[in-house]
Amino acid sequence: MRIHDKPMKNKIPYKGILLAGGAGKRLYPMTRVFSKQLLPVYDKPMIYYPLATLMLFGISEVLIISTPEDAPNIEKLLGDGSNIGLKLSYKVQNHPNGIAEALVLGDDFIGNDNVCLILGDNIFYMGDQLNDFFKIIWKNEGAVICGYHVPDPERYGIVEFSDGEHVLSIEEKPKNPKSNFAVVGLYFYTPDVVKKAKALKPSSRKELEITDLNKEYLQENRIKVLRMCRGTAWMDAGTPDSLMDAAQFVQMIEKRQGLKISCIEEIALNRGFIDIVQFAKLVDNYEDGSDYKRYLSKIVGERKQNV
Ligand code: TTP
Repeated sequence: MRIHDKPMKNKIPYKGILLAGGAGKRLYPMTRVFSKQLLPVYDKPMIYYPLATLMLFGISEVLIISTPEDAPNIEKLLGDGSNIGLKLSYKVQNHPNGIAEALVLGDDFIGNDNVCLILGDNIFYMGDQLNDFFKIIWKNEGAVICGYHVPDPERYGIVEFSDGEHVLSIEEKPKNPKSNFAVVGLYFYTPDVVKKAKALKPSSRKELEITDLNKEYLQENRIKVLRMCRGTAWMDAGTPDSLMDAAQFVQMIEKRQGLKISCIEEIALNRGFIDIVQFAKLVDNYEDGSDYKRYLSKIVGERKQNV
């Protein structure tokens, strides 16, 4: 059994916020009438990938934030999540005022809980490194960010660190980068994040910057970094090229293994969010004709044989 397939012993003490708004200008005209996060990445809508990542962490209560135009469509796709054992709620961000605004809009939702914020266009393939995530996020005492090795650090927010997880600096698009590790769109915070996000001032591009928020934790020496290891993949599917790369990556792995990446129904079953009876019922309700349904139906057959 792979780590992904293990039912959770302990529910992780985090709620999730999935930020799926934005202007999507780099993907125009694809995003003129359609949310970036509803565009396909090979065989499923983009938003399935970050949602699946939250589910792999064992997070079942998720607030999805999107634009006034797109939030209703995302809700049409995912509903209240109860068919896959989730509790989904929705909130509108009226303008793309910055990533950190998600934590202001999420005030009531977060309450006194820890929160994991994930960006709607970030795709992760983490393999067995999921274990490292559990270790570091269980003992989070402020913020945990994730660093991914990139060849072109000038284009990203870059984290410099020592002894594996101790953050020394975070710099936005540095001319002289201090490391090759980009800060990815996945962040873990303690509940005081709401207060910190509310105190942020908009930057010169008039956004509440997630880097500014993380720097607050850095000042208090309450931030750690999880270094994503070789063999993992992180993709931000925000440009035509990266969208195509992501689709080809998913296609290649899925074809080689015969196993799907970020199949939310399968994860719900494997993680114990739903049982095989609920799983079979939801598969039954899907329209016939897709490979996706055939894949899910095969799982029903295999599980029933093993009962
Ligand atoms: P970006 O890719 O930085 O912005 P964008 O999606 O608007 O795209 P573009 O730059 O091409 O116009 O956003 C990263 C993710 O965060 C993406 O999933 C959209 C989301 N986002 C919001 O939902 N609200 C915001 O205010 C911002 C800045 C981003």
